Amino acid sequence: MANIERLDQKKKNNRARLLTKERGRSAMIGTQLSDKTGQSHIIELVGVNKSFGDTRVMRDITFYIRSNEFLTLLGPSGCGKTTTLRVLGGFEQPDSGSVTFEGRDLLAIQPHERELNTVFQRYALFPHLDVAENVAFGLRIKKLPQNEIDNRVSQMLSLVKLEGYEARSIDQLSGGQMQRVAIARALVNLPKVLLLDEPLGALDLKMRKEMQIELKQMQRELGITFVYVTHDQEEALTMSDSVIVMNEGAIQQIGRPIDIYNEPRNAFVADFIGESNIVSGLMPEDFRVLIGGKWFPSVDRRKEDEKVDVVIRPEDIDLVEPSEDLLNGIVTTTTFKGVHYEMIVEACDLEWLIHSTDHKAEGSEVGLSFGPDDVHIMDKSDFSPGRGRSRQDSERSEGDVINPESGKETDNE
Ligand SMILES: Nc1ncnc2c1ncn2[C@@H]1O[C@H](COP(=O)(O)OP(=O)(O)O)[C@@H](O)[C@H]1O
Ligand SMILES: [Mg+2]
Repeated sequence: MANIERLDQKKKNNRARLLTKERGRSAMIGTQLSDKTGQSHIIELVGVNKSFGDTRVMRDITFYIRSNEFLTLLGPSGCGKTTTLRVLGGFEQPDSGSVTFEGRDLLAIQPHERELNTVFQRYALFPHLDVAENVAFGLRIKKLPQNEIDNRVSQMLSLVKLEGYEARSIDQLSGGQMQRVAIARALVNLPKVLLLDEPLGALDLKMRKEMQIELKQMQRELGITFVYVTHDQEEALTMSDSVIVMNEGAIQQIGRPIDIYNEPRNAFVADFIGESNIVSGLMPEDFRVLIGGKWFPSVDRRKEDEKVDVVIRPEDIDLVEPSEDLLNGIVTTTTFKGVHYEMIVEACDLEWLIHSTDHKAEGSEVGLSFGPDDVHIMDKSDFSPGRGRSRQDSERSEGDVINPESGKETDNE
């Protein structure tokens, strides 16, 4: 069941408010949540808020990180990913909320005493030290014996596939190699958690893809918890056990990559995670939705509100002969994309994006055919079609029911 791993945001938010209101931060110390899978949580954030001036950068952020998982914070630039990581690293203090690490109050622990290390967006290596000394740096500070330092440095260099590079100077390395050194340097201290802030952002596409696979392998081999930040949805889906989708300081959805892709919670997630057709629908009962004046079967149950958003992925629509039971329209654009054709169909006042290996000529009259499990039902949100995209001015919290009509008026102003 896809929902098993998903965090019940509304309940957590309510709990967070209760905790902060009634008992304060210290109440969380020693309490470690576990979930339905029985796995323990190494880190838990409950109701964390952070503002810079008037900008709310973290809005009531509540989530947990399981031991040894690869968790990714995903969202557009400026949504608060780095700030969330900096709170974990101890470089930023939240305004409210609690953060625990193995059940202990993390915010009370000095940054350098936290059992986590960070790999930053830019390499931040020491240019005057060679590769081995860059990696050895943390161990020298700890005053470990030379033979142990040598052993651990060569272990780490072999892990990041840089054996034989010990004496190289940093400016003789490629971008990918520099980032490997940075990763080795962060891992040599054997932290329980590694924080990675867009570590592959500066690399070219081919190198990035290679490093994605290698990072994932390293994480599995070492059994270290990775908290990874990226704005690249494909990267997040490829590497992660869990993904947290953020926008404007708020969590939009938490789940496994497959849940996030197949069952986006709202139009923002559907749109950000992949190309999609998002339309308004009406769902007064289970398993049946009205789109463009016609009824379609769906595998989903009805939501609290009968007004819903419906997402249908471009690859899930077949173009067939027009028929009374279907949404019918006209192909306005056909583009050859290599593996498939990308076609735009105008139907019921909307432009539908369709990916198919079957070609339909521009001007063809077509029907849009899709099955019950291609029709994904989502709650209306600030991101629904026809709405404003910004929730900057809205102080609404996650689970609140939004009145579609009033929401429309406020957001269109
Ligand atoms: N130290 C700071 N002072 C003021 N504003 C900041 C600071 N750090 C981040 N911000 C702002 O907070 C928002 C979120 O930033 P950030 O967490 O870096 O986002 P992301 O990593 O998702 O791109 C942005 O609007 C950014 O400009
Ligand atoms: Mg960032």
